[in-house]
Amino acid sequence: MSAILPPAERLWWKHPLDRVEAVWIIISFVWCMVMFFMMVGWHIYGKQNLATETYKVEPAKFAERAQAVVDKYTVRTELEQKIPVVAPPEGADVYMIGRLWNWWPILELEKGKTYKLHLTSMDYNHGFSLQPTNINIQVVPGYEHVIKVTPNESGTFSVVCNEYCGIGHHEMVGRIYVK
Ligand code: CUA
Repeated sequence: MSAILPPAERLWWKHPLDRVEAVWIIISFVWCMVMFFMMVGWHIYGKQNLATETYKVEPAKFAERAQAVVDKYTVRTELEQKIPVVAPPEGADVYMIGRLWNWWPILELEKGKTYKLHLTSMDYNHGFSLQPTNINIQVVPGYEHVIKVTPNESGTFSVVCNEYCGIGHHEMVGRIYVK
């Protein structure tokens, strides 16, 4: 029998299952199950998953809250644009805003302490890519992304926008210090 010609017997589906066919069906089914449970397992045990929560938010309200935190915990300003450097206490809510074309403010965190980082965009989609560690979050206007952050390495980290957002996209770099 070939697959091109119609089957000689029209009721071919009533034929008993061939052994080889059954073996392949079992192999495929078992593999499907392996992959399915790996998805679940990966979500729980995989270290690549960020436990992010996302809420709808009005950009103006978010900016207000961010401004309040910046006013409270700014320790100095940096660069010619006088970007505030915010050093919050442990457990604090910290904010970072992405907009054309910068991340604001700069954060100064301490190693081993946990913070709640809130992210949003004021205009278009931006990408929060923490370098050199490989952490990526898509930052969407109208939504607030909340991430629990516990830095486990000290140093200077860059926040690179990895979502194309126009002519200044390549200049959209932010900074996080970890002491
Ligand atoms: Cu923001 Cu690219």
